[in-house]
Amino acid sequence: MLVLLALCVGCGRNERMDALYAERCLNCHGPGGGGDGRLAASLPVRPPDFRDTVQRKSNSQIRNVIAQGAGVMPAFGPVLRPSEINDMLQMVRFLSREGRDLAWWEKFDTLVVAHCSIPWETVLGYDDAAGAPKP
Ligand code: HEC
Repeated sequence: MLVLLALCVGCGRNERMDALYAERCLNCHGPGGGGDGRLAASLPVRPPDFRDTVQRKSNSQIRNVIAQGAGVMPAFGPVLRPSEINDMLQMVRFLSREGRDLAWWEKFDTLVVAHCSIPWETVLGYDDAAGAPKP
């Protein structure tokens, strides 16, 4: 039971994730991930609306964008711990889910539950994957 609880908490959107997102991502990506942050209008490339793009991406694709950056988006691999990058990956998923109707979301529920029950740190070993830039 305790383990179950820990999994749920670990997988839910939480204050730690909100705070980190607010600090690192909000200015560009906006409060709802719609790409309407304070800085967005002044960027040469508008940040995408997570709701449009993220559902087609795999977890490792999203993690790579966060760790290595894309276009004007800085690479966060050097400044965030792997666990924090994982948090942001989940945050992006949560934001992309916001505003969806239930039917849409239900299709992915099993996937999400599956995703949340896997100890990603162990499976992917991204302690080494996240930081080091590829040669
Ligand atoms: C300086 C502004 C800026 C900051 C800060 C920023 N991003 Fe981005 N982000 C962008 C832009 C612009 C793109 C689109 C890049 C492109 O495709 O050229 C992007 C793309 C992405 C994508 C890919 C979306 C997709 O599906 O195409 C993800 C995921 C993402 N950002 C997450 C984050 C997270 C998480 C943070 C905070 C840790 C963050 N970003 C911080 C500007 C920013």
